[in-house]
Amino acid sequence: MTKTQIIDSNTPQMLGVIGKISAINYLKEKKPLSFVRTYGCQQNVSDGEKIKGLLEQMGYGFAKSTEEADFIIFNTCAIRENAELKVFGNVGELKKLKKKNPELVIALCGCMMQQEHIVEKIKKSYPYVDIVFGTQAIQTLPKMLLTVLEKHSKVFDTQLHSGVIVENLPIHRDGDIKAWVPIMYGCDNFCTYCIVPYVRGREVSREPQAVLDEVKALVDAGYKDITLLGQNVNSYGKTLEPVVSENGEKIQVRFPQLLKMIDEIDGDFVVRFMTSHPKDCTRDLIDVIADSKHISHHIHLPVQSGNNRVLDMMNRRYTVEKYLELVEYAKSRIDDVAFTSDIIVGFPGETYEEFLDTLKLIKKVGYDSLYTFIYSRRRGTKAAEMPDCATDEEKSKWFRELLKVQDEVGYERYLSYVGKTQRVLLDGESTSKEGYLTGRNSQNILIEVPADKSMIGKFVNVKFTKAVKWALVGEIIK
Ligand code: 5AD
Ligand code: SF4
Repeated sequence: MTKTQIIDSNTPQMLGVIGKISAINYLKEKKPLSFVRTYGCQQNVSDGEKIKGLLEQMGYGFAKSTEEADFIIFNTCAIRENAELKVFGNVGELKKLKKKNPELVIALCGCMMQQEHIVEKIKKSYPYVDIVFGTQAIQTLPKMLLTVLEKHSKVFDTQLHSGVIVENLPIHRDGDIKAWVPIMYGCDNFCTYCIVPYVRGREVSREPQAVLDEVKALVDAGYKDITLLGQNVNSYGKTLEPVVSENGEKIQVRFPQLLKMIDEIDGDFVVRFMTSHPKDCTRDLIDVIADSKHISHHIHLPVQSGNNRVLDMMNRRYTVEKYLELVEYAKSRIDDVAFTSDIIVGFPGETYEEFLDTLKLIKKVGYDSLYTFIYSRRRGTKAAEMPDCATDEEKSKWFRELLKVQDEVGYERYLSYVGKTQRVLLDGESTSKEGYLTGRNSQNILIEVPADKSMIGKFVNVKFTKAVKWALVGEIIK
C-alpha cells in the first residue's frame, strides 16, 4: 500500500514566493488578470478552484475571456480522445494571443500533462506554452510562475508524486450554494479502458478530521449542497491508520463511517458523493444513507456494461448479478432512491448481443439518467492492446439505440415523480424560462419552479406537476 504523505501548503517558503509575486503584480499599472479553463470531471473542477485560490493570493483578478488575460491556465482532461483534441484546438488558438502580447504567460496542467507523449507534443508543436504541470503539482504553481516572471524560462513539473496529499491550499469556490470536497485522490482499480490510474496515481485518502473540518466550515459559511469527491469514494480510508476514540477504541474510518460523521454535523444541508465503484459498494453504505438526515437519496453507480464477459474484460470485478443485488437492496432500504450510471459502448471485442445485455440491465434498474460514452482507445492501457472487431459505424448505431432506450426509461422515471411533493434546494435562475428558478431534489434531478430570485439558496417544498425529458416542473407548496 502507498504510504501517504501529508503536505501543508502554508510553509514559509510558499508564502514567501506568493508574497514576491503579489509584490510584482501590485506594482503593475493595472491589476493583472488570469483565466482558468477547466475540462472534464468534478475532481478537475475542484483542482481548478484551488488554482484560482492561489491566483487570487498572488494578486490576480479573473478575466472573462482569454483575450483579456495576462495569465492563462488550461486544466486538462485525458479521459477520452475527443477531450484531448478539444484542448489541443484551444491551445492552438492561444498562439496569436502570445504573438500580440509576448508578456502573456500560458500554463497547461491536469491529467493530459501526466502523459509523456502529450508533453513531448507540447514541447515540439506548442513552444509558446510557458508552464506545464501535472495533477500533483498544483502547490508548486507559485514557484513555477516566479521562475517564468523572473528568468523568462519555461518550467515543466510533470512528475507523479503518488501518495501525497496537500492540505490547506486556498480555494476560490465558483458558487456560494454548492461546494466540492475531495475526500480521496487517485485510483488503484486499473479498469482496462481507463487512463485515470496512470495520470492521477495511487489512491490516497484525506484524514477524516480534515474532511469534517472542511464540511463544517462550508455549512457554517452557508453552503447548502456539498458533494464529496473521489474516483472511487467506496474505497475511502484504505490507506488510513485507525482513529483512536475517546474510550481508547481503535476505529477504522471507511466511507460509511465518514458519511455518518458528516451526517451528524448540525445545519440544513444536503450531502452528495461521487463516484461509487460497485465492487466496493456495501450494504453498510446503503444502510447509512437510508438512516441519514443529510445524505442524498441518489447513487451514481457506474456499471459500464450489462454483460459479465465484457465486465471481466474491463476488469470491473463485479458481476451483473452482484450489481443488481445491490440495487435491489438499496431500493428496499432507501425511500425514492435514484440511480444514475456511466455506460461504455463498443469496448474492444464487445458483440451486439453483449451490448443488448446492457440495454436489458438499463431497463431493469430504471436509471434516472446516464452518462454514455463510445469507447475511446487510451495509449498505455490494457484495452488499447485488445482486438476490436466492431466498426465505428456499428458502435455509433448501438450508441443511438442506447440513447433511445435511456430516453424512454428516464422519462418514465421522471413521470413517476409527478404528483409527489419533495424538498428542493433552489440554486439559480432558469436560463430557458423567465420567472422560473432551478433547483435540485435529493435525487439530484433538475427542477424548475416559478419563484422570485430572493428564494435562491433556500430549501422549499415543491409539488411536481409535469415531467419533461431533462427536468421536473412544479410549484412551491407553502
Ligand atoms: N473510453 C470511453 N469512456 C471512458 N470512460 C473512462 N475511460 C473511458 C474510455 N477510454 C468513462 C467511464 C467512466 C467515466 C468517467 O468515463 O464510463 O466511468
Ligand atoms: Fe477509471 Fe475504473 Fe478508476 Fe473509475 S474506477 S477512475 S473507471 S480505473
